[in-house]
Amino acid sequence: MDFPVSREGKPFLPDINDLHFNLSHSVGELAVAFSRNEVGFDIESKARRANYGDLARRFFDAAEARAVEEAGDSVREVFFRLWTAKEAVLKLEGTGISGGLQRALISSETSAELDGRPVFLGRVEWEGYAGAVASFQEIAQLRLRSLVL
Ligand SMILES: CC(C)(COP(=O)(O)OP(=O)(O)OC[C@H]1O[C@@H](n2cnc3c(N)ncnc32)[C@H](O)[C@@H]1OP(=O)(O)O)[C@@H](O)C(=O)NCCC(=O)NCCS
Repeated sequence: MDFPVSREGKPFLPDINDLHFNLSHSVGELAVAFSRNEVGFDIESKARRANYGDLARRFFDAAEARAVEEAGDSVREVFFRLWTAKEAVLKLEGTGISGGLQRALISSETSAELDGRPVFLGRVEWEGYAGAVASFQEIAQLRLRSLVL
């Protein structure tokens, strides 16, 4: 089904103001976040390999890049936690990556800032995948449901 999209490409439900969604896919998995508020969502396969240090130096804030460099054996986990959180924040805004990954500053597992505006984060994780949900409102509850067809 095709949804209408914003100027920057973010899909939305037509004629429904109190239900929002955002979707993400990675290596054969499709995940959708639904929320009463505007939402951003990004997942990554845990099997995905990359040059984490290089990417972090290029796209992350200095403190975030340092966290990746100092992560030792947890480098992949730390990198993807930051990456999915940043993408989720920019998908919340609706700009996507073109909004500039460095504008989304990740302060903790549950908080971020976008140009100084507070953003709330939630982590989701299931076999082989992990991701982040971002909202401008506090995330009171995060429920994960899986659907296998
Ligand atoms: C679209 C974008 C966010 C996808 O990121 P990704 O990690 O590669 O892919 P994900 O699977 O997590 O997300 C893709 C989904 O996000 C949604 N999406 C697309 N654009 C979006 C946006 N600007 N904001 C929020 N969500 C968006 C769509 O549902 C898309 O699914 P689809 O490819 O099946 O249509 C990324 O490509 C991007 O930031 N693009 C820049 C936006 C852009 O270039 N816009 C051009 C018009 S100005």
